[in-house]
Amino acid sequence: MPGRLIALASLKGGCGKSTLAFNLAAGLARREKAGLVDADPQGAVLHWMDWSADRSDDEALPEVCAIGDDPLDTLSKMARRFNRVIVDCPPSLDMDLTGRILEKVDVVLIPILPSPLDLWAGASTVEAVRQARERNPRLRAWLVLNQVEPASALSRAMSQALASLDIPTLGCMVRRRAAFRTAAVEGVSVYQLGARGREAAREMDQVLEEVLRT
Ligand SMILES: Nc1ncnc2c1ncn2[C@@H]1O[C@H](COP(=O)(O)OP(=O)(O)OP(=O)(O)O)[C@@H](O)[C@H]1O
Ligand SMILES: [Mg+2]
Repeated sequence: MPGRLIALASLKGGCGKSTLAFNLAAGLARREKAGLVDADPQGAVLHWMDWSADRSDDEALPEVCAIGDDPLDTLSKMARRFNRVIVDCPPSLDMDLTGRILEKVDVVLIPILPSPLDLWAGASTVEAVRQARERNPRLRAWLVLNQVEPASALSRAMSQALASLDIPTLGCMVRRRAAFRTAAVEGVSVYQLGARGREAAREMDQVLEEVLRT
């Protein structure tokens, strides 16, 4: 089945890997058996899940595990157990681990903020994907615009710069929304915020649909 392992990765820190990993995995868990692998040494997602587990609502949550000492083995085991598995890659500096993960996964989503500085970082992540494809030629990759301000449409320069990268950009984008931060603070996914999280949850569903349909 295509799209079994889906990584969130970028050489740029703080672009939304963990936020999107957790919320996309929560969206998947509502549809099917979904797992989430935390490859961040700070274990952001694992902390998040600890909080979530204490809550008493019946929201289906993904099962989470740490990447551990043998990343490829962990990913293989998770792929056998779940229909789909999301992998939250480490912050920028741990390129070695991110590179190894990219050689194993089916899809990589690269969150990118709509600013010129982030585009530069995006370009170097594109290079990491190119290298991973030497050993994993079927790796599919998309850039995902994150934290887009509602008022500012994407500038023409930004659209042109994105188009010049070798990796396509998802048609749907994720806006900067208080719900993503609120959910993190409350230790839940945006799906569990009710009306406060509705728009954010809809965006997660759109990302999932676009990625899973192709
Ligand atoms: N769409 C969004 N709207 C509002 N806030 C967001 C959004 N996406 C991410 N954030 C916030 O931006 C910050 C960085 O996000 P996050 O921790 O997910 O990035 P990261 O890429 O995992 O960072 P690191 O490289 O340190 O692992 C967090 O405070 C998060 O709540
Ligand atoms: Mg993170």
